[in-house]
Amino acid sequence: MTKLTLTLLLMATAMNVHAQNSDEKVKTLLGKMTLEEKVGQMTQVTFDVIAKPEAENDGFPVDMKKLETAIVQYQVGSILNTPYNKAQSLETWNKIITAVQDVSKKTRLQIPVIYGIDAIHGTTYTQGGTLFPQAINIGASFNPELSKVAGAITAREMKASGMTWNFYPVLDIGRQPLWSRFWETYGEDVHVATTHGVAYINGHQGDDYSKAEFAPTCMKHYTGYGYPLNGKDRTPAWMGEKILREIYLPSFEAAVKAGSPTVMINSGEIDGVPGHANYHLLTEILRGELQFKGIAVSDWEDIVRLYSRDKVADSPEQAVKMAVMAGVDMSMVPYNFSFYDILVKLVKNGEVPMSRIDEAVSRILKVKIESGLLADPYPKKELIKLFANEDATAKNLAAARETIVLAKNSNNLLPLSKSANILVTGPTANLLQVLNGGWTVTWQGDEENLYPQEKLTVLEALKAGSKGKVTYVEGTTFTNPVNIDEAVKQAASTDVIVLCLGEKAYCETPGNIENLTLDQAQLDLANAMLKTGKPVVLVLLEGRPRVVTPIAEKSNAVVVAMRPGMEGAIALTEILFGDYNPDAKLPFSYPRNTNGFTTYDYKPLEVYDGMVINPLYTFGHGLSYTTYETSGLRLSKKEIKAGEGLEVKVSVKNTGKVAGKEAVLVYLNDNAAQVSRPVKQLKSYQKVMLNPGESKELTFKLTDADFSYIGLQNKRIVEPGKFTVMVGSLSDSFTLLP
Ligand code: BGC
Repeated sequence: MTKLTLTLLLMATAMNVHAQNSDEKVKTLLGKMTLEEKVGQMTQVTFDVIAKPEAENDGFPVDMKKLETAIVQYQVGSILNTPYNKAQSLETWNKIITAVQDVSKKTRLQIPVIYGIDAIHGTTYTQGGTLFPQAINIGASFNPELSKVAGAITAREMKASGMTWNFYPVLDIGRQPLWSRFWETYGEDVHVATTHGVAYINGHQGDDYSKAEFAPTCMKHYTGYGYPLNGKDRTPAWMGEKILREIYLPSFEAAVKAGSPTVMINSGEIDGVPGHANYHLLTEILRGELQFKGIAVSDWEDIVRLYSRDKVADSPEQAVKMAVMAGVDMSMVPYNFSFYDILVKLVKNGEVPMSRIDEAVSRILKVKIESGLLADPYPKKELIKLFANEDATAKNLAAARETIVLAKNSNNLLPLSKSANILVTGPTANLLQVLNGGWTVTWQGDEENLYPQEKLTVLEALKAGSKGKVTYVEGTTFTNPVNIDEAVKQAASTDVIVLCLGEKAYCETPGNIENLTLDQAQLDLANAMLKTGKPVVLVLLEGRPRVVTPIAEKSNAVVVAMRPGMEGAIALTEILFGDYNPDAKLPFSYPRNTNGFTTYDYKPLEVYDGMVINPLYTFGHGLSYTTYETSGLRLSKKEIKAGEGLEVKVSVKNTGKVAGKEAVLVYLNDNAAQVSRPVKQLKSYQKVMLNPGESKELTFKLTDADFSYIGLQNKRIVEPGKFTVMVGSLSDSFTLLP
C-alpha cells in the first residue's frame, strides 16, 4: 500500500466514523423527540418574528419574550435574516446569537438553533465585512481559486458574527440577461458555474465544517430558476427535461458531490409545476439520482405561496402537505408559525406520515451536529480579530482585479497616462452601491448612506490614482438628466472622458425591467460626450448586460466592470492606468440587440439558412495590454476507447511587452448525436501567468463525462463518434470508438 492510499484510507475511515457518530447521535436525539419538537425543527422564521420595534432598538434588537415564544413554545429549529433589513455591528450580532442560543438551552432537548444568512458576496449583514466581487465578476476571472478564497473568508467572517448557515452559492445559470438575478450567477456556462460553485464550497466548508472557521453552504435555487421566460424574477420557466438536465442540473450535482449539505428550492415554476411542489425534482432526482442526504429548505414564503399565489393547493393545509411530501424538509415560513400549527395537525390526522417527519428532522439534526452546533453554538469570538483584516481586504482587491473585462481598446487608448486630465461623468461614477449590487448592507443594496464611507467610488479612486486634474460632473442620474451641458463644457478642457454608466443596485423582483436597453438619459449623456470629439472610455457598472451597442461602438474603449465589489473601484483604476493588466473574460454573451439573446453554446439550427449570431461581445471575450498566441494543439490520441480519456496539450505564449495572466478555454463539439448538440461547449480552462516572451505548455484532461450528454431518453449517455476539440482558432478531432 502506498503512502497516499494509506492516507486516503485513513481519511475515509475517519469520515465514516464521523458520519456514523452523527448518525447515531441523530437516532438517539430523534428517539427522544415529541411530534411538536420535530415539527419545530422543520420551522424557520425571519428575524422580524423576534424583533423589537426598530424605534425601541437600544443596540439589542431582540424582544426576549418573542424569542422565547419562537424557541421555547414553537421550538423553531432555525432563524434567518437581519434586524430591520440592514447590516448590524459584529457586537450586535454576537449579542443576538448568544441570546438565541441561551434560549435554545432552555428547551427540553437543548437543540441549538441554526441561524441562516445570505452572505452572498461576503457577510452582507455584518457591518464592515469583506464584500467580494459578485458571482458574475468572479465567473469572469476564470480562476476558481478566487471563489475558494471568497468562500473561506466569508465563512470566517460569518462565524465571527455568530451565524452558522450561508444561503450560498447560487448555482443557477445566467442565460436570461433580463433576469434581475443575472449577476448572482457565474454566467451562462455550466462548466464555469460548476467549477466556481465547487471551489466556493471547498473554501467555505474546508475539510470539516464543524471547525470554528468553516460553515455549511446552501446550494440554490434548485433548479431551473435562472431561466424565466419573460425575464422577470420568479416567473414561469419552460424547459424540457433534457435542457434541465443538461444545463441546470450539473452545477447542483457537482455541489452535492462536493459535500454541500443543504439546498434551497426554486421559487418559480417549471412547465407549470412550482419548485416547491415538484416531487420529481425534489425527491426522485435530488434524492434518488443525486443521492443528496442533506436538508432541502424552502425559499421565502414559498410553501404558503403554493396556495396564495400559484393555486396548485386549495388551502394552506394542502400547500404544507404538498411541499413536505414533495421533499421540502424545512419551511422558510417566514413571518409566523402557521407551518408548525398546520404540520402538527396534518401528522395527527394521518395526512403526513411520521416517517416523512423523521426523515426531514434527521437531516436537520445531522447538519446541526456536523456544523459543530451541538458542541458549541456560540459566536466564534476568537475569529473577530481576523474580521475584514488587511489580508482579507488585499485578497478582495486581488480578486476584483481579475474580474473586470476590457472589452474594447481602440488604438490602445488604455492604459491612460496618469498625468492626463480626466472628466469623470455618469450616474455610476460616485456611488459604492454600483460596485456591489444587491445583498450589500441591505437586501436591495441601494442604501448608499449605509455603505462604509471610507471605501472608494470610481471617482475617488481615480482622484487618488491620478497625477492630472480629475473633474467630475454628474451629467445624469440613472434615469433623469442633471447637467449634461455642464459635462460638455468641462469636456473641452480635458484629455479623456471616463463615462460611467449602468445600473443602480437591485435584487430579485424590485430589479425587474421591461427593456434591456440602457436608460435614455444615460444614452443622451453618452451621445453628448461622444460628440465632443474627446476620447471616451465607457465604463459599465451593471448587474446584467444592458444594451449599449451604438454608444459602445463609438466609444474608444469599453470596460465591462459589472459588480466588482467593495475594492472594485481601486481595481478598475489600476486597470485604467495600466498598473494592472486586465485578464478577465466575459462569462456570458453580451447582447448586441434586445432580441439577440443567444448564448455561445447555440445549436446548428440557429445559424442555418444564413442566420447569424452576432453578440456585441462573445462569451470568453476580454482584452489585455499584451498579446497571447496559442499554438501546437495536440491530442494524446486520435482514437480512444470509452473510459480512456483524452489529453489535450496546447502552448500559450505572451507575445507582447507586458506580463499578464491568460485564461485558455477548451471547447468540445460532438459531431453527430441522437439529439442536436451545441456548436461548442466549454469543457475545461486554465489561467496562467506569463512574462513577456514566456510560453507554457498546458495539459487538459477530458473524460467520458465531458463527452456525455442527455440523450433521447433523458438520460446522460456517452456515444461513440467523432468529436472536435477547439482552443482559440485551433482545432483537432478524435474518435470515441464503439
Ligand atoms: C431569495 C433567496 C434568499 C432568501 C432568504 C429569497 O427571497 O430568493 O435567495 O436566500 O430570500 O433571504
